[in-house]
Amino acid sequence: MESAACVVNSLAPTAAAAAYPPPIAEDLARVEERLAEELVSREERLATIATHLLGAGGKRIRPTVVLLVFHAAGNGAVRRDDAIEAAVALELIHSATLLHDDIIDAGDVRRGRPSALRTFGAADTLVAGDFLFSRAFALCARFEPVVIRWAASACVSLTEGEIMQGRFRHDPAVTLADYVEIIRRKTASLFAAGARTAAHLAGASPELVEAMAVAGEHIGLAFQVSDDLLDVVGHPGRTGKTRGIDLRDGNPSLPIVLALRADPEFARLFARERLASGDLEAGLGRIHASGVLSAVTARAQAHVAEALDALRRLPASPYRRTLEALAQNLGDRSA
Ligand code: IPE
Ligand code: IPE
Ligand code: MG
Ligand code: MG
Repeated sequence: MESAACVVNSLAPTAAAAAYPPPIAEDLARVEERLAEELVSREERLATIATHLLGAGGKRIRPTVVLLVFHAAGNGAVRRDDAIEAAVALELIHSATLLHDDIIDAGDVRRGRPSALRTFGAADTLVAGDFLFSRAFALCARFEPVVIRWAASACVSLTEGEIMQGRFRHDPAVTLADYVEIIRRKTASLFAAGARTAAHLAGASPELVEAMAVAGEHIGLAFQVSDDLLDVVGHPGRTGKTRGIDLRDGNPSLPIVLALRADPEFARLFARERLASGDLEAGLGRIHASGVLSAVTARAQAHVAEALDALRRLPASPYRRTLEALAQNLGDRSA
């Protein structure tokens, strides 16, 4: 018999779920139950590490996008269970990337808690990430090969995005084009795969499936641009993460890439392997002073506009309206 290390019926419910049309709120509740089931392991420590992360909440934006696209793009009755499983798989993949990302970025705080890295150490956190990836792909076994290929190729992109980002760490020569390619791979690919899969499961036409992939990609790009902005201006109490990590780690975030062009002294700071905390504060101050933050917001909003354009291909419905509102909020988010 499996020893259920952390027996929970449901993980943290998303605060916003109640605001969604009823089928979405029901589906999101089901996603939480299914996530809890997927975290069970014969090794208690694996379940503990996974629950440390997933039980701390998170916005669950990827499952929400999957479910909204699914209900907006076709007959939500036919493959509803498949859509829920796809949403669960996506959140498991995302969770795995967070565990690994905190190892890569030396992240101390995640979702308002000490990160799994700091709580359980790098070795077991790494394995817990592999555990979650594997759980996700076991769920994908129910799908047709093309869906499994989309999921796998998003995961390949994720790995290529993290490695490409590492290649430009502390490198002031990084360009805007490099930045866009990094975030397309590390963040937007998963949103695109989720939205594409959701439309496919809804039985949408090939044109609508591709339009939803484009919408997902731009939602993901807007999401990462605003995450980069929050790393500079966000309130840790709201984001659940420490501020200034991108500059501390030499990650080429959008505020950094733009400030490199505007301020040669900032470029020298960015190139340094280690920054004392005074230098980190000075660097964040220089980003503010360089005046690039409005361009960062404008870029997030441009991706929101592209996403809205693609979403217009959907028939009018409460789901489409909710998706549009979700996309619009990404241009100006605080958490
Ligand atoms: C964080 O993702 C990693 C990025 C791609 C920016 P989220 O901001 O969706 O993290 P949670 O799931 O809400 O904690
Ligand atoms: C997201 O980038 C990386 C992933 C795809 C997990 P970040 O490194 O900016 O994410 P946070 O800020 O640590 O959540
Ligand atoms: Mg990180
Ligand atoms: Mg970040």
